[in-house]
Amino acid sequence: MVRPQKRGAEHAAVAHPNIALIKYWGKRDEQLVLPRVDSLSMTLDIFPTTTRVRPAPGADHDVVTLNGAPAEGEALRRVVAFLDLVRSRAGQELRAVVDSENTVPTGAGLASSASGFAALAVAAAAAYGLDLDATALSRLARRGSGSASRSLFGGFALWHAGPPHATGKQADLGSYAEPVPAADLDPALVIAVVNAGPKAISSREAMRRTVDTSPLYEPWARSSADDLTEMRAALRRADLEAVGEIAERNALGMHATMLAARPAVRYLAPATLTVLDSVLQLRRDGIPAYTTMDAGPNVKVLCHRADADRVAETVRAAAPGGSVLVAGPGPGARLLPGDGR
Ligand code: PMV
Repeated sequence: MVRPQKRGAEHAAVAHPNIALIKYWGKRDEQLVLPRVDSLSMTLDIFPTTTRVRPAPGADHDVVTLNGAPAEGEALRRVVAFLDLVRSRAGQELRAVVDSENTVPTGAGLASSASGFAALAVAAAAAYGLDLDATALSRLARRGSGSASRSLFGGFALWHAGPPHATGKQADLGSYAEPVPAADLDPALVIAVVNAGPKAISSREAMRRTVDTSPLYEPWARSSADDLTEMRAALRRADLEAVGEIAERNALGMHATMLAARPAVRYLAPATLTVLDSVLQLRRDGIPAYTTMDAGPNVKVLCHRADADRVAETVRAAAPGGSVLVAGPGPGARLLPGDGR
């Protein structure tokens, strides 16, 4: 592991996105970003984010560059709020220069907040001289974006919701991700990007509405706890069929909670359903392939690595206007040597 160098120098970190197989949906504390349910994800080996942080003596505000352009609006606000948290922990006030490069092709329709805040947590903690272990970095990344807590770890990661009635410091300490032991599964996620446009409603707002108004939310949250228990057992015995079945029902259940919200939140598009049909057909043809969808219309298909090309070809034919990517399990977030250049 690369140790932080001297405090105040530029530090660079890299992190990869993750896709949840047991979903995080619903917060119990928006400020601390405490989820209502445990979630479990696979970190991907594609589209890393590299972020550099350099405290800037004398500067009176943070300067944040995302993919070469100055950050503004909500994106800037979230990064500055995150840096404020790091500064308050470090007992420092120095503003910073942050430069983040995301390799997700523009319009790929894949969220970059998980890799983005995981890389920012690692780089900012080092730059401000906080010597945190991976668990503490996971808690910190959670404050930027919930799903970022899981990108600290490679392979499969479980994010603990934490004790449901804890408050304040105890609640914060109880909610972090950790790696999950999995036997040799050799999985791939084939990502069918059916629509790369921005989402109509943010996941933050959609979660809030679902928790507040959907009569299906509590039943789903309860069944998700059982899904997690079964998922862990399936991962231990490297049973891809079971992993896929559990992931698929968990995601469809999550979307059902949203469809029942008032007013309804619907991320699934006609092309999403066409891809789901094509995956059902693959299963009928004897190829184990299972779907999961997040806060958008794109479909991620879990399958054996050996079947990934066939699955990619099938979903490409089902959604001809879109693009298809293939990912495997990727590494956890890490500090890069020197300034990472
Ligand atoms: O971390 P956020 O606020 O972008 O929420 C992500 C929620 C889902 O992607 C829909 C599910 C998950 O567990 O990643």
